Amino acid sequence: MREGQAPTGLIRREDYSAPAYRILSVDLTFDLDPAKTLVGSKLRITRDAATPAGTPLRLDGEGLSLLRCLGDGESLSFRHEEGGALIIDNPPAAETFTLEIRNTCAPEKNLELSGLYTSGGGFFTQCEAEGFRRITYFLDRPDVMAVYSVTLRADKAKYPVLLSNGNLVEQGSLDNGRHYAKWHDPFPKPAYLFALVAADLVCREQKITSRAGKEHLLQVYVRRGDLGKTEHAMASLIASVAWDEARFGLSLDLERFMIVAVSDFNMGAMENKGLNIFNTKYVLASPATATDADFAGIESVVGHEYFHNWTGNRITCRDWFQLSLKEGLTVYRDQEFSMDMAGSASAAAVQRIGDVKRLREFQFPEDSGPMAHPVRPDSYVEINNFYTTTVYEKGAEVVRMQDTLVGRAGFRRGMDLYFQRHDGQAVTCDDFAQAIADANPDSPLAANLAQFKHWYAQAGTPRLSARTRWDATAGRLRLTLTQSALPSPGQADKQAFVIPVRLGLLARDGRALPLQLDGEAAPAGTERVLVLSATEQSFDFVGLGDAGEAGPVPSLLRGFSAPVVLDDGLDSAERLLLLRHDADAFNRWEAAQRLLQELLLAALPGDGDLPALDEALVEALRAVLREDGLDAAFKELALTPPIESVIAEQVEAVDPQRIHRLREQLRAQLAERLHADWAWAWDAHQLREGYRPDAHQSGCRALANLALQMLVLHAVAHGDEVWPGRAYQRVKDGGCMTERLGALLALVHGGSALAGAALERFHADARGDDLVLDKWFAIQAAATEPLGAPGSVAPRIRALLQHPDFSLKNPNRVRNLISTFCRDNPAAFHRADAGGYVLWADVVLALDAFNPQIAARIARHLERWRVLAEPWRSAAREAVARVAGHPRLSADVREIVGKALDA
Ligand code: BES
Ligand code: ZN
Repeated sequence: MREGQAPTGLIRREDYSAPAYRILSVDLTFDLDPAKTLVGSKLRITRDAATPAGTPLRLDGEGLSLLRCLGDGESLSFRHEEGGALIIDNPPAAETFTLEIRNTCAPEKNLELSGLYTSGGGFFTQCEAEGFRRITYFLDRPDVMAVYSVTLRADKAKYPVLLSNGNLVEQGSLDNGRHYAKWHDPFPKPAYLFALVAADLVCREQKITSRAGKEHLLQVYVRRGDLGKTEHAMASLIASVAWDEARFGLSLDLERFMIVAVSDFNMGAMENKGLNIFNTKYVLASPATATDADFAGIESVVGHEYFHNWTGNRITCRDWFQLSLKEGLTVYRDQEFSMDMAGSASAAAVQRIGDVKRLREFQFPEDSGPMAHPVRPDSYVEINNFYTTTVYEKGAEVVRMQDTLVGRAGFRRGMDLYFQRHDGQAVTCDDFAQAIADANPDSPLAANLAQFKHWYAQAGTPRLSARTRWDATAGRLRLTLTQSALPSPGQADKQAFVIPVRLGLLARDGRALPLQLDGEAAPAGTERVLVLSATEQSFDFVGLGDAGEAGPVPSLLRGFSAPVVLDDGLDSAERLLLLRHDADAFNRWEAAQRLLQELLLAALPGDGDLPALDEALVEALRAVLREDGLDAAFKELALTPPIESVIAEQVEAVDPQRIHRLREQLRAQLAERLHADWAWAWDAHQLREGYRPDAHQSGCRALANLALQMLVLHAVAHGDEVWPGRAYQRVKDGGCMTERLGALLALVHGGSALAGAALERFHADARGDDLVLDKWFAIQAAATEPLGAPGSVAPRIRALLQHPDFSLKNPNRVRNLISTFCRDNPAAFHRADAGGYVLWADVVLALDAFNPQIAARIARHLERWRVLAEPWRSAAREAVARVAGHPRLSADVREIVGKALDA
């Protein structure tokens, strides 16, 4: 537990009550000094009509020193709660009064990176979720929205740039080489959206004119020397502004919109009103230092934070249980933005596949583990532990299903109504769904709203199973859909969900069949959305006389129309048909993945080798690889087998070594059987034009990199030196980071003898660039165990912890080295000698002493120890118990390891 922190209890959603006092406006002054910053705060406070005069006023505070406290100019008596909150037992009796506070805080000692802290010699803030209370005493809750005026005073030479939310109203010089700036934000906002920056930065700026003809100034602030890497972030911001106007009719409401990059940051980025603060990872990019994935990440995160201006800032959350109101909706919006930016329908499908992969790789495991919680949680100990993939990605799927149930135009009407009703308010997930339904009274969403909202209330991934009965003589297909949900912590019995199932039917020759349900006058289209609301429901399709003897093959859950696990009952011949002919690109990818996954699952029991791949499957994969007019990006996704953790999700007692071995054998077979095709793919996808991070070029590079990986793997197996030699050459002189990194990964994951030298070369070429060094750490953390020397990765990671370029204080470094090792390299992490687990525990405890948020994130990598087979299970449990038994643990880590051991 941090010093002076109260033992944190459980916060429950049902205990919500409206604030007794509200803050109308706040006038802040900062005398910035790294060791001791002086904060002056003048609050206009108003007592709620329902609050009796004289009710004690409790202000949140944490780790602060209070210097003085005046109420309407008179000194007030006060006391402190154990955690640092300030209690004023006798506040002024007037309905509205002024409270003046002076306090200090210590930015340079703030290694939690929450509140006001220093990084690279500048001052930065991070206030979501509860960081503002570490700056000054306040009603630090999202339903208290105030108008802010902020004056910053600091040394002019060290901190030439002084920024806060809103508009700059005044600036000038002071004595002693100091200067000041005064900012005013006209929009009332919760404290979590406050921000300030004081640092030596430079900026790229751009003036834009909105559709309405208003001028706005966009700025991207970075450290001196990084200006050349801001072009893509600025282009992404401009595109975001245009997209929100075009798609949702939402325009920028401020004269000035700023993004500031900082290299020590707990999260990806933060949507502070008019002053977004970003992790450098999501701002800085040049072809030489950033991969295509990095460029795409910047576009989506810049979009995400910008879109929060309406979904999060103008309309915010009533309480933190409603977090998905802003995060789920804004992830949905940034996903749609990226799909629209991708250009073509097929590039949009590639985007969708990536989003669904992420959901399955991260959210599904969370939803079946000890931290499983509903999209709108019922309780928490530490809110920072609930910025989860469930709240974000599953929350986005819940918004997407509403879109599916009301149609695209209906969803736009619903969003319009949401803004009309709630602009300027702090609201709930119920308010959102109600607006979407009310704007679409005839939709299946409106008809089933109460039941639909189980998606917000029930944890766990529902199972959906589909079976067909074919009547060839009548040309009739009965599709029976059944849903079920497993119990999750605190929720034994589940009620049926409303599940939109988008589907089509294919004839055995691959034709898309017209769809007509029994009772309908005529067929309508070849795709539609069925709505499953009961536990079991049957749908009769008629008029299918020409489907072929064996009957139609259903293509279900197209575009992944609901976040469920689907058991479609299809056999491999039917999957091969979908892989070849499905009009839905998502389901073509799905068919390929299921074919590969089933091979691995079938081979898992016992200890034999993976059987040789069927010629029909190899031929089908070859056909995909060679198909004209199919995106290279799609091919890369379809031909990459599901990762080990996704396979592990399907089994009861996980043997990470066995899964690794079989997947490696699958990779080796794909390398062998498609050897000539990989060589063709490599040649055919070399780019000669200048670098662009667009869908087409990224797709070519992704496929060429996969081909190179396969070619190196094959070469190493056959003692051939040509392809490893080419890969090594490319690490040295590749045209961009995506190519260089792809070549390096091919050597490292192919077990090439050149991998070591290539890694050294890559480190030297990084020349101290932080984001490139992050990659260097990540590659080593993800390295495949060399066959000859298994068990060598964990000791390597331990050695890297001591590397001069490594620091536990920098969250990006920790994520790249430790999370990559624990999450992306199961065969190295889960060793019989428990070396990985010991390292995990050591790192969690070391981090927890100064940055509990990051410590808790790392702690989560072992929360699902129960799914492991022996001996890993016992060894992992012991490591978790060791952390749990530590005498000084933060509430953050305590909540995670406590749940991991309890469940
Ligand atoms: N509001 C969050 C950032 C945040 C979350 C700050 C929790 C502090 C505590 C921001 O909008 C966000 O969601 N950022 C994501 C990236 C986004 C593209 C999903 C992040 O930081 O990971
Ligand atoms: Zn967000």
